[in-house]
Parts: sequence; C-alpha cells; structure tokens
Amino acid sequence: MALVPMKELLLRAERKNKAVGAFSVGNMEMVRGVLRAAEEKDEPVILQIAEKRLASSPLTLMAPMMVSAAKEAAVDVAVHLDHGLTVECVKQALDFGFTSVMLDASLLPFAQNIAVTRSVVEMAQAYGATTEAELGVVGGNEGDTAEHIIQCTDPQKAMEFVQSTGVDALAVAIGNAHGNYPTLPQLRFDILQAIHETVDCPLVLHGGTGMSDDQFRRAICLGIRKINIATASFDALARAAQVYLTGCETPDYFTLSEEMVRGVAANVTRHLQIFANR
Ligand code: 13P
Repeated sequence: MALVPMKELLLRAERKNKAVGAFSVGNMEMVRGVLRAAEEKDEPVILQIAEKRLASSPLTLMAPMMVSAAKEAAVDVAVHLDHGLTVECVKQALDFGFTSVMLDASLLPFAQNIAVTRSVVEMAQAYGATTEAELGVVGGNEGDTAEHIIQCTDPQKAMEFVQSTGVDALAVAIGNAHGNYPTLPQLRFDILQAIHETVDCPLVLHGGTGMSDDQFRRAICLGIRKINIATASFDALARAAQVYLTGCETPDYFTLSEEMVRGVAANVTRHLQIFANR
C-alpha cells in the first residue's frame, strides 16, 4: 500500500459507488488516529490540512509527517492541501510530496476562478498530482469567525468550469457549511442531482460534520466521491482529552496521547463505515 494520487482513490470509489473519507489533521495524534481507523477498516483514506490551519500546525512540520505516515500505511492514502489560499502554499505542498491540492478561488468572480484554477491544474499535473476546486460558496468559514453566505453551485456553470479548467474533482455548494450545524442542514439534493447529471467529474462534499447517515448515503448515490470531515475529528480529540484529564489525578502525556488517537480513530471509523456504502 502506498501514497497515491487522490484521483486514483476517487475513480476507484466511483467504480464501487462509495466515497473516500478526507479527514483534516493538525497534529500527530490526528494523523495516527485517521490511519489507525483506515487500517482497521481496510479502507483507503485522504489525509488533509487546510492552509488556514497552518498558523497552529505549520506545513514544514505537518507535511513531512503526513507524507511519511501515508507511505508507511497499510492502506492507500492520498495527502491533500485543503482550501489553499495562495499559489505559493499550493506549490510548497506539492514540493513536499502532497498528491493532491485545492486552491479555493470560490469567492472570486467566475472567470477569475477559472483562470487561477487552470494555472493550478497545470502546476499540479507537472507533479502528477490531483486538483480539486470549488464552485459556488460553502457556508461557514473554517477556523474563522466571519461566516460565508451559502451560494449553491449552478449546474450549467459547473459543467463549463470543469471543461475550462480540467480540474479532477469539484467541490459543490448544496446548503453545506463548515463547522457544527445548529440543526440538521437542509441539503439541496435536487441541485446535486442536476450537477451529477451535467458534470463528468467526481464531486466533493465539504462540511461533513453533523450530516446524517442518510444524507451521506444519498449524496454518495448522487456522485459524491470525497467527503470532508474536520470539526468532528477535532472535537473527538478534545473530548477524549477532557475525559482522560478529568478522570485522572496524575495525568501523563503518553496515556493522553493514546486517548487522543483513540478518540480520533473512533470518529473516523464511524464515518468510514457509512462512506463505504456496503
Ligand atoms: P467540517 O469541519 O464541517 O467537518 O468541514 C470539513 C471541511 O469541509 C474541510 O474542508
């Protein structure tokens, strides 16, 4: 098993009508937790980190760990830059050996989103890496207080976008948002179906934390091949640490670390079971 281009995992998922879990990580315990669950379930997985998270988890430290953990894993793993904000960061990730990158230009006007995405596709192709881009606007805003207002993806524009950019995977906006939802989100499966019928490209669902099992299954049947989970993993780690620390008078780091790995792994396992669509 190996570090593989993300496209390979998405095409495999397409053939099996399932989705690959893409789990955000910010430290060693998260990396180990994701891979422990993936190995136990014998499922391929995507390790990812968003550019916004690099302030607390620098790429120079995270990237070598993510890439070498992927190479050593007993399952196939892609390593992905999530929500790249700058071309410089995308290039840095590719130089570190990431097998997939996303430059999020979704807030730019359509023509500019196409132009910048096409330049990233060309750059990534030179490394043999996969490219993901977003059209429409996913709600919330990972790691920030400013919330983005949801703008659902237009299926016709999605077709034009994919054809003009040559992007390998398209993140869609169908009422989904980053972070914890106050109530179960109302996802626009009618829009997802129209995109699926129009666009010949694996689709990506951001904002997976808090969606129901039924919503995941329905999305997979309508062409979603990559599902992003971040907040649920971060919360699982924090809760596991809290339970250990409150129940223990003389805490030690090594037990704490193992509890954090276990907390993350449990959350990842739960999602992998649903995404496998067995
Ligand atoms: P959540 O934090 O809602 O799981 O979103 C993850 C995500 O989409 C990362 O890009």
